[in-house]
This record gives sequence, structure tokens and C-alpha cells, in this order.
Amino acid sequence: MKDKIKQLLDEISVFTTESKEELDQFRIKYLSKKGLIPSLFGDFKNVEPELRKEIGQALNDLKNKAQDKLSSLTEILDSNIQESSGDLDLSLPVNFEELGTRHPLSIVRNKIIEIFARLGYNVSEGPEIEDDFHNFTALNFPADHPARDMQDTFFIEKNPDIALRTHTSSVQVRVMQSQKPPIRTISPGRVFRNEAISARAHCIFHQVEGLYINKNVSFADLKQTLLYFAREFFGEHTQIRLRPSYFPFTEPSAEMDISCNICGGKGCNICKHSGWVEILGCGMVDPNVLENCGIDSKEYTGFAFGMGIERIAMLKYQINDIRLFFENDKRFLKQFVSSI
Ligand code: PHE
Repeated sequence: MKDKIKQLLDEISVFTTESKEELDQFRIKYLSKKGLIPSLFGDFKNVEPELRKEIGQALNDLKNKAQDKLSSLTEILDSNIQESSGDLDLSLPVNFEELGTRHPLSIVRNKIIEIFARLGYNVSEGPEIEDDFHNFTALNFPADHPARDMQDTFFIEKNPDIALRTHTSSVQVRVMQSQKPPIRTISPGRVFRNEAISARAHCIFHQVEGLYINKNVSFADLKQTLLYFAREFFGEHTQIRLRPSYFPFTEPSAEMDISCNICGGKGCNICKHSGWVEILGCGMVDPNVLENCGIDSKEYTGFAFGMGIERIAMLKYQINDIRLFFENDKRFLKQFVSSI
């Protein structure tokens, strides 16, 4: 028994291998249930009592040596495998995951919200599928009035009372119905109009509309608010001009131009050499609208304005085709850097 132990100890201490298969055979030969070492343990019961202590120790020692050998060789082989698997070149630069970027429309929307938040405006949202009352009637669009054609509408089939909203003024009707003045709110959101898709127009686009209702709100307040917005958004030298216009829900109504932010007003292709570009519609809320929404028009006045986010973004970033916003081409989308 002693000799057998000595022989196995020698075999084990010189054993080495670079192959996993050979190492597994080593384990089976010496350490598995029917392997040589367990079978020596099995023979231990026949050892004479006076030799038991010595042989017992030698056997335990043998078993420990075999296990140590197995685990140290396993470790070496595993690390070799890792190094040789694939072409691991530690000198290569780290492969960073590509970071996503904010969509330019989100960047512009967030910036607009941030500017008006400074003036105390909160954000209100409402449904994209609207009823006639909120999208038209409450806003002073008479039934069968040609004003309804200004905004070619997608109606829900079989129900002329339900449509995709054509502007987010509908959200402001909901705000006026449910809140008491003073109201300062802006309503960003997606709107829908039945228009042919081209470089300039899309049937789906985004708006931010604003509403301020309080006692003694005047056209001068409107003008100053919009001047502040234009300068914060397009730069401190921006000029504005208001041209008379028509909307059913405001009286008087105006369209606002800014001095062309590309040429600074000197004249270029973007402003068609006029020095001005139109950016929004606005006006004093028509008293009928206030009354339709449950607000006393003798006590309160207000102003409203609305702009297309795509248009603002196109001017800001000099984008010449509105369709680019909806094509999800990463080469386009990753050019815009968000500060918020
Ligand atoms: N609702 C108008 C539109 O969609 C914009 C607007 C809002 C005009 C408020 C005046 C006042 O075109």
C-alpha cells in the first residue's frame, strides 16, 4: 500500500498537460469515484491498525496533491483558452456603444417649453382624436363656414363629429373649460391636416400653441411676449413684425415674421430676399371663444399664438425638406445637439 501511494504521488507530481481532454482523463484516472485514489481509500479498511495513522495521512496527502494539480492545471488551461479565443488585441481602442441623440423636433420643442416656462407658462396636453366642439365650434368656427376649410381635416369615417385635431388650440379649449384665469399655458403636440406631402408640407406635424388669459391683457403684452420668445430662441438681435391676418378664434389676428436669421435681414434664398420669415399666428382671444369655454369676457381678456415646430426647426437648422424629420435616417438625426 505504501509503495502504491508513493508511485501515484510520483506520477501525479510530474504530470502536466496542455489539453483539456488529457486533464479530464487525469481526473477520471485518479479522482473519480472508481479512480485509483478512492479505491485506495476503499482498501484502507484492510490496513493493519498500527500502520493506519501513517497510511491514512499519506493517503490524504495524495488526495490533496491530486486535487491541487487538477485545479491549478484547470486554471492555466482556462486562461490560455481566453487569450487564444478570437483575435484579442489589447492595443485596440475601446469600442464605445454609440449614444442615441435627441430628435431635432424634441430639441426645439423642449427649448420652446423652457423659454415660456421662464414666463410662468405651464404645459398642457390633450387628445389627438378630437370632437368638433373642441377643434372647431368652441373656437368660433361657424358650422359650414369656409374657415373650416383652412385646415383640411381628417374625419373619422361615419362620424363627422370626430376628427384628428388640426391644431392644439383644442387643448386650450379644454384648459379654459376646466381652469379659472389667470391661465398661462402652452400646448405642444402632434396635429393632422389633409395636405399633400412635399418638401414644405406634411399631413402630420407638430405645434406649440400658447394662451394667456387674465384681467387687462393687451395686444402690447402679446407683442412683448413674442419678442422675448423670438430673441431667446433665434438670438438677441432678432426683430419681429406683425402683419394683420385672420383666424376665427382671435380678433384682431396677426401673423408674426422674424428678421431672417440666416442673412440677418439683408435678403437671401430662405427669406426670398425679403429679409423676413413668417413663424407664427397670433391674436387676442375672441370674446366668443371665452364665453364658449365658460370664461366671462367682460372680466377677462387674453392672447393666443401658435407655431409649427417643424417650421421653427427648419429655420433654426436650415433644413430644406420637412420630410427629413420623419424618415429616421440616423445620419440626419445625429447632427443635432441638445442642451436640454
Ligand atoms: N391655431 C392656429 C393654427 O393652427 C394658430 C394660431 C393659434 C393662430 C392661436 C392664432 C392664435 O394655424
